[in-house]
Amino acid sequence: MIRAQVPRSRLPKLLHGMLSDRGDTFACLARRYPAGVTVPLPGRPLHVLNGPEAVKHVLVTAADRYEKGIGQAEARAGLGRGILTDDGETWMRARGSLGPWLRARRIQQHAPAIHRYAVDSVTELAGPHPRRIPVDGFLAEYTLQCLAAVLGVPAPHIAPVLAALDVVQDDAMFRVVTQDRIPTVLRPRAEQRLREARTVLDRAADEVIAAVDSGVPESDPPLWANRDDVISLLLAGYETTSSTLTWAVEELSRRPALADALAEERDAADDPTDDPADLLRLTGQLRLTTAVVKEVLRLHPAVWLVSRRALRDDVVAGWPIRTGDDVCIVVAEAHQQGWAEPDLFDPDRFLTNDHRGRYLPFGLGPRGCPGASLAHLEATLWLAEANRRLTLRPVLGRRTRALARMSMTTMPGTPYLIARRTVARAALA
Ligand code: HEM
Repeated sequence: MIRAQVPRSRLPKLLHGMLSDRGDTFACLARRYPAGVTVPLPGRPLHVLNGPEAVKHVLVTAADRYEKGIGQAEARAGLGRGILTDDGETWMRARGSLGPWLRARRIQQHAPAIHRYAVDSVTELAGPHPRRIPVDGFLAEYTLQCLAAVLGVPAPHIAPVLAALDVVQDDAMFRVVTQDRIPTVLRPRAEQRLREARTVLDRAADEVIAAVDSGVPESDPPLWANRDDVISLLLAGYETTSSTLTWAVEELSRRPALADALAEERDAADDPTDDPADLLRLTGQLRLTTAVVKEVLRLHPAVWLVSRRALRDDVVAGWPIRTGDDVCIVVAEAHQQGWAEPDLFDPDRFLTNDHRGRYLPFGLGPRGCPGASLAHLEATLWLAEANRRLTLRPVLGRRTRALARMSMTTMPGTPYLIARRTVARAALA
């Protein structure tokens, strides 16, 4: 096979793009070279391989020949070795003990609490009068609350944790692009910021662990927490869902008819009691809302880049990979394949069993997302209650924009015009 390779003369521009606009840079590569491309980064070549055969091979069939790659290894400077960044035996142990806490059946038991948080979050967002405010802060708080509830711990104070995770992610991306070759003594301020961020995260993790230690009833799954695992979860477990919901608000704010349809769907559904079975019935009735969440995840997958580092020489869909090379899958680009009019925001595509394209917002294989059930439940309930109670409209000239870090989050602070819905919903106010 003739392998496409980015010419070395283009490397400086590409590296600059990876630093300044990672999402677009990787998306352009994947789109321009659908059969794959090698970026000859000095010392560690990077292969962008988005074809279905390559994705299945790397993430599922030959998963044991790879460890976590670009970004994750570099993030260890800030995140340590938690479930997100670790490999081998210790990862397997962490995954084995966390898994039961996040199983769909267990998450369902927490559905009434998650529903209450959703209603509270939406009520707080509504405020007493129509207003023009960002939603991302409310969503981050809501998703962190849900995560804490499921793990049976109090929610950490959000602002410093968010800021610290930002520092850790920026540091990781800097290390990726520079191949971690800039000695830390040459960037003392960045090192200092990383140390401070880690102190904040350690403190938050210790609070979580203390709460887990003191509160786990006999019937719960066994203890899962150590410091690095908690920090991994803080990063993986709420920002992803929060930015997914921010994108949902952005898309729905520009489609009032669709938002009205969601409100009607919620109105027509049952009002749940505190019985988890009621919530199961309610989510089953929210078919359009669920389809909106799925379509948001297709067009704006929070984990935009899935990457692996080869533990040994391999051949991926005819593409030779050397030990230590990075292989990347650009999820948003994979989500363009096999769908009719893939750029169009069209939740209906998930309501029919017609032709489906590629879809892997939660990854695949042994390292696929263990939090998918929680993410879907949180997102569906919040969106249903928000559209039932509120209208969310764009502010002229402002729109949510992507911010590619380790996950594809959103630029903070985009305001929306928020008002209570007027149609016969006085009883809900
Ligand atoms: C919309 C929300 C979410 C999306 C799109 C998402 C997506 C993903 C993806 C694609 C991966 C696999 C990455 C890879 O293969 O390298 C992943 C891993 C992970 N996710 Fe999620 N996730 C979401 C929410 C959550 C939630 C709510 C939790 C926790 C409660 C969570 C916990 C994790 C953990 C711990 C991992 C690492 C698993 C491992 O390496 O074994 N995620 N997520």
